[in-house]
Amino acid sequence: MKITAAKFRGSCRDYESCPDSWLPEFAFVGRSNVGKSSLINLLVNQRDLAKTSSVPGKTKLINFFEVNGMWCLVDLPGYGYAKVSRNQQAEFNIHVSAYLTRRENLKHVFLLIDSRLEPLDSDLAFAHWLDQCSVPFSVVFTKIDKRSKDTVENHSELFLKVMRENGIENTKEFSCSAKTKHGRGPLLEFINSRLPKKSKNTTRVSLNWMNKR
Ligand code: GTP
Ligand code: MG
Repeated sequence: MKITAAKFRGSCRDYESCPDSWLPEFAFVGRSNVGKSSLINLLVNQRDLAKTSSVPGKTKLINFFEVNGMWCLVDLPGYGYAKVSRNQQAEFNIHVSAYLTRRENLKHVFLLIDSRLEPLDSDLAFAHWLDQCSVPFSVVFTKIDKRSKDTVENHSELFLKVMRENGIENTKEFSCSAKTKHGRGPLLEFINSRLPKKSKNTTRVSLNWMNKR
């Protein structure tokens, strides 16, 4: 799929302030610093559309990026960042979980997992929660440029094995590197496959920001 346009449409603090929209949305979740914002930049082929940082906890709001005028990528705050206060983390969790479980035009969630690390309880718990809530999701192993192919494969296989042992089956998986651009094609193809088929009568419905703010 060719990306012809991608632009920032706005940020919201919580689910309630998200704009009404019929545009299909694809959201990115995972631990702080796992590479969510970097992956969005990779997909849209822009350096700095989503703000990234080497310091965990950069993304604090629900951020919408409209692509090709037809669908949206949604960058979410991360979990598991030790320096965020418990109250702040709890607030993030409430807002993110409300968005993930209640947003009607949310088509698919990508759960990002750091391929450098052995499976972490927090990631497995998040996968379990998504599954329990029947939120359709795939797993994306990130930063694969940072470790050997064998390590990445071992960690990925282990994560998928534990997921299966917990009854989470048939989850599609991807791997990516924002540095080498590995994984961009398959992820875009997957998103394309989840978009409604074009009809001649399709009228473009854009985010209704004005009514919400
Ligand atoms: P929060 O917004 O804090 O939750 O983090 P995030 O998940 O959005 O991570 P972000 O994209 O900001 O990336 C965190 C750091 O990892 C940055 O320094 C990125 O440059 C780096 N990074 C992200 N993806 C990759 C990757 O594929 N390879 C390498 N080498 N570095 C990466
Ligand atoms: Mg981020």
